[in-house]
Amino acid sequence: MRPELTLTPDERAHEARLLEVICAHIAAAGGALPFADFMALALYAPGLGYYSAGARKFGAGGDFTTAPEMSPLFGRCVARQCHEVLDVTGGSILEFGAGTGALAATVLETLAALETLPERYFILEVSADLRARQRERLAQLPAPLAARVAWLDRLPETPLSGVILANEVLDALPCERFVVRSAGAHRLGVGLDAAGALREVELAEVLELPEGLEAAALPEGYRGELCTALRPWIASLAAILERGLVLACDYGQPRSALYHPDRLDGTLLCHFRHRAHGDPLVNVGVQDLTAWVDFTAVAEAAVDAGLEVAGFATQAAFLLALGIERDVAGETVETARYARASEARRLLMPTEMGESFKAIALTRALDLPLTGFALQDLRSRL
Ligand SMILES: C[S@@+](CC[C@H](N)C(=O)[O-])C[C@H]1O[C@@H](n2cnc3c(N)ncnc32)[C@H](O)[C@@H]1O
Repeated sequence: MRPELTLTPDERAHEARLLEVICAHIAAAGGALPFADFMALALYAPGLGYYSAGARKFGAGGDFTTAPEMSPLFGRCVARQCHEVLDVTGGSILEFGAGTGALAATVLETLAALETLPERYFILEVSADLRARQRERLAQLPAPLAARVAWLDRLPETPLSGVILANEVLDALPCERFVVRSAGAHRLGVGLDAAGALREVELAEVLELPEGLEAAALPEGYRGELCTALRPWIASLAAILERGLVLACDYGQPRSALYHPDRLDGTLLCHFRHRAHGDPLVNVGVQDLTAWVDFTAVAEAAVDAGLEVAGFATQAAFLLALGIERDVAGETVETARYARASEARRLLMPTEMGESFKAIALTRALDLPLTGFALQDLRSRL
């Protein structure tokens, strides 16, 4: 499916500059780049990738909206889960990929009201553009809260106690794509056609699929994604988390549902001006690329790295358990209550974000029932 919307002249020029860089990489790689390398450049090439450069990205004038952008209700629930953990562990919060800073702002304000502020609120953000937006947004917090925020270039070298947050970060990690043939799952890549335009190419290399997933059990021509960056990312968090919780929220499924033989075309989606489509080779650098998360892979990597999988639930069950309904009912101004009620519907409805988004809790040395996972326990599906 091709998107119908056309680019502005500035967007065209931006795309042309990024395509020049990508073409140089394709040439250096001998004619084709693995899809994950293409995706890494399209999203994160310094100064040019979708996240690295200045595209608006979030909200009504951008390409997509995330839960913390849509409503403070999401951040308040996340804050209550942090409160429960910080009460026991003390320490800090580290947020990965903080977008515009919306979640950080709501979490800090809610924790201040609960009198459980973290020692520091660290943000690890790969995009210089978003880092600047986060600084601007969080500078508007009351000074004692703003003073706790610090940006990191890499994971801290000293152990961390507290909470690590990642909302819609795992779906933005570059992933491999494959197509099933009789010899196995062939890696897909990006090359150039005779006119010099990007085209998908099927590489000879066969990818090793994760445990429980047999290429022979999938139909010929079946396409899927594989996020090889997930395992090292989780291992790196496990290496620094001394005591506490990693809370990751994202859209995704357990492996058996994600790679269901009926889902013939994978889950890679491109977001451009609030339209979703399936062609990553257009609008390069001006559209978002995402793929659903294999939550079984998250759980396996966590257990292998010495963490415990303490909870797995739909976003709806997670937010309901943390009192989202009380937040809506507690709004004293009628117009605000209506606005919150409509936001809650979008966060909770199965046809919106309620079911496709999941929350997973990975813990270390935390013998504590987590309220966010008290209503639903989907761990047996992982
Ligand atoms: C879809 S946005 C989500 C932003 C925000 N968490 C929210 O929910 O609104 C993905 C974010 O992850 C960041 N990101 C992607 N890979 C990352 C990594 N390896 N480390 C830190 N941030 C990353 C992006 O720059 C961006 O801020």
